[in-house]
Amino acid sequence: MSPRNRTAERTPSDLDLESSVLRSMDGEDPRLFPFLPELLVDLEELGADPRLIMALLSDHGGLPGPGSRVLDLGCGKGAVPLRLAEQTECECLGLDAVPAFIETARRSAVSRGLEARCRFEVADIRRWDPGSSRFDLVLLGSIGPVLGPPEETLRRVRGLLAPGGRVAMDEVYARAGVAPRNPLYGSREALMSAIGSAGFVVVGEASATAEVQEAGHRSMLEAIRTRAEELSQRHPELRSVFEAYALAQDREVAVLSEDVVTVTLLVRDRAVPPAPVAPGPDRG
Ligand SMILES: C[S@@+](CC[C@H](N)C(=O)[O-])C[C@H]1O[C@@H](n2cnc3c(N)ncnc32)[C@H](O)[C@@H]1O
Repeated sequence: MSPRNRTAERTPSDLDLESSVLRSMDGEDPRLFPFLPELLVDLEELGADPRLIMALLSDHGGLPGPGSRVLDLGCGKGAVPLRLAEQTECECLGLDAVPAFIETARRSAVSRGLEARCRFEVADIRRWDPGSSRFDLVLLGSIGPVLGPPEETLRRVRGLLAPGGRVAMDEVYARAGVAPRNPLYGSREALMSAIGSAGFVVVGEASATAEVQEAGHRSMLEAIRTRAEELSQRHPELRSVFEAYALAQDREVAVLSEDVVTVTLLVRDRAVPPAPVAPGPDRG
């Protein structure tokens, strides 16, 4: 999964949890759900690029300082929080609806010696209650419209932020002068306006180079195709389901490469002054 746009038509707060997960990963067919962990077993990163996020944070306000609290909503296998925790002394909480992803994230935390600072929990992020917890950084890595379109997403996230907290969010918008094959992708202006309407300001943005994106897409497609074929051999009655998924990924990658710009934005609540920059280690 590639970064997903959150246009108004796709506001799945009323979707059942399996459909929410499937949509966030370009799947439609409910029969696919139990096989997602196996289809994606070779991928640790399920969309967000940890290196890009590290660079973005480092360039705009600094990496999270010691003891900073980081929340990753829809963390998948925890690629981004684990990387952050490895490179800084922050404390991370990752939430995801797929128990197998959370299990993998927990195992990775243990094998990397990060379990004291990285917690991973199974949760539906649309309904999760943070209690009194507040976070210095909230990550929305390639989760698309799970929490609604951008304006609604940011309004929901605001209450999770500690004073001066930031949000890193993956977004997609149409290339200038291109009408995307997927009509759900809106313009850059619409995205920026939605962020402004939610009361947030963009403090930084970054996109991976075309080469990096292409290499990421290629290895993702290859991994999915291989696993889709293996699954098809074991479950021939579901071959069309696995093949349709692999094809949908192919199509989406074509759209992402040709029709749209994928970007990671760093935003903060306009009404709250930025937190002082903590001296942090070099970005990794
Ligand atoms: C494209 S993946 C991105 C995962 C991770 N952020 C990354 O970039 O590696 C989208 C993730 O959102 C999760 N997800 C979708 N709907 C969810 C929900 N309602 N509650 C919790 N997690 C959800 C999926 O299980 C999946 O792991």
